[in-house]
Amino acid sequence: MDTQEQKEFTSMPRIGDKAPEFKAVTTQGNIHFPNDYKGDWVILFSHPADFTPVCTSEFMTFATQEEKFAKANCKLVGLSIDGLYSHIAWLRSIKDKIEYKGMKDVEVKFPLIEDITMNVANKYGMVQPNEAATQAVRAVFFIDPKGIIRSIIYYPLSLGRNFDELYRVVVALQAADEFGVATPADWYPGDDVIVGPAGSCGTAEDRMSGKEDMDCKDWYFCTKKLDKDVVLDKILKK
Ligand code: BEZ
Repeated sequence: MDTQEQKEFTSMPRIGDKAPEFKAVTTQGNIHFPNDYKGDWVILFSHPADFTPVCTSEFMTFATQEEKFAKANCKLVGLSIDGLYSHIAWLRSIKDKIEYKGMKDVEVKFPLIEDITMNVANKYGMVQPNEAATQAVRAVFFIDPKGIIRSIIYYPLSLGRNFDELYRVVVALQAADEFGVATPADWYPGDDVIVGPAGSCGTAEDRMSGKEDMDCKDWYFCTKKLDKDVVLDKILKK
């Protein structure tokens, strides 16, 4: 391994970094990432292995919700350290044989990357050797239309992801960008949002004297209304 390769193997991309570039074979043809996704949000996620039950439940859930994510301008790309023919056979089995929580006949239409060489998994720090040396953990990278990593969530092998939370993150990141606000704990569209910190003593004073259209409990904790329809109107495709 040369030094650059070693660095890629041991380093993990972080929030704010450019998404590492790669070319890969997928169940939907070749992709050049993140270039092919410029202008869209994308969730790049890994799972430990094909033909495993937790992963199967996750793929069925993601596939069933793909349209919902697409409406929020977000595409999906999966990955595991398996080969293309394994991926194809697994996705066919899911469609033909698996029924789960009312989902059946589920066709996975988003790309699933073959990564038998672990090239992509290593670039993204998806293999965490003390959890599993040859399988990726359940990593989720939220990448913005400029190819910047905006959030990362990791789950261990035994824990299936919460898809409501993944969707909430996609919407909250876009709301923060669109409206220049932050979103508090457990925020959903329609809840009040957090106004950025006061940058001067004067602003702090103005906020506390009620001059601004916001609700301040103290100078550093100010919220304002942001209508659900206004948020969804901006974010969701018509
Ligand atoms: C699963 O997806 O079911 C699974 C994969 C690896 C380890 C444990 C569970």
